[in-house]
Amino acid sequence: MQLLDIATYFTSESDVSRVAKGRLDEADLSRLYAYPPRPRRPWIRANFVASIDGAVTADGVSAGLGTPADQAVFGVLRSLTDAVLVGAGTVRAENYGGVSLPDDTRRARVDRGLDELPPVVVVTASAELDPDARVFTDTTVTPIVVTTAAASADKKKALSDAGARIVEAGETTVTTGDLLGALDGLGLHRVLCEGGPGLFGQLIADDAVDDVCLTVSPLLVAGSAGRISHSASGAVRRMTRAHVVADDDGTLLTRWVKHRTEH
Ligand SMILES: NC(=O)c1ccc[n+]([C@@H]2O[C@H](COP(=O)([O-])OP(=O)(O)OC[C@H]3O[C@@H](n4cnc5c(N)ncnc54)[C@H](OP(=O)(O)O)[C@@H]3O)[C@@H](O)[C@H]2O)c1
Repeated sequence: MQLLDIATYFTSESDVSRVAKGRLDEADLSRLYAYPPRPRRPWIRANFVASIDGAVTADGVSAGLGTPADQAVFGVLRSLTDAVLVGAGTVRAENYGGVSLPDDTRRARVDRGLDELPPVVVVTASAELDPDARVFTDTTVTPIVVTTAAASADKKKALSDAGARIVEAGETTVTTGDLLGALDGLGLHRVLCEGGPGLFGQLIADDAVDDVCLTVSPLLVAGSAGRISHSASGAVRRMTRAHVVADDDGTLLTRWVKHRTEH
């Protein structure tokens, strides 16, 4: 992977100007994707992969769009975060499991003051999740379900029995304010939202997205796949380009941060 472009960079203490043009290793990528130092509120970063023609899935799942460079950055982003935030639709579609990271990455996280592994935080109004889903059965960290008071008590109990921590953050729906408050209350400030389009669309509509990492996969897929965001009403948010990284297979890795004047 090679750095093509680095633009105004203002979210990190680390000296990214030392990331020279040339081959990037994992340490370089960690510097490029660093969160702001000690965020005092949840910093919402979203990570998506899309095809050249804007599809969010190929054959129904995002893995169909993945490339080695996308996978490498996906791992780096997980290594930097306090929590992986996902909507229930993505958990249902992608058979999500808990986050696993190599031993040396886990040790490096602890050295930097992070927990060894970040929990998965699932947002669901309905609590309609399968207690046998991998997110509950294939994890070493307690998964967190952010849901509503109105969701079925039986469903919430079943998820709790399956090992989840249940956080009620809203009556019939989880507003963005409820969600940010819940993350803040849990001390989860470096947030990595891995989708899906419904959750991301709501966060955009409510102007809560600080940072977008978008991989453009070198594929055209046509068909009827959706985009990386959707919401009931449109919202235009200006972003500033942070960097563009290219891999030999044509993959482009882009990072965008909320426009400076909106900070
Ligand atoms: N290309 C990529 O990088 C990428 C990444 C992620 C997902 N995807 C794809 O996206 C598709 C899923 O799309 P989606 O829009 O259904 O995903 P989603 O945003 O993960 O799921 C939507 C569901 O999440 C819950 N939810 C989201 N926001 C909520 C809120 N604020 N309050 C309460 N509940 C909330 C609701 O679940 P309940 O119905 O349970 O209440 C809602 O029905 C899948 O095909 C997946 O493969 C692609």
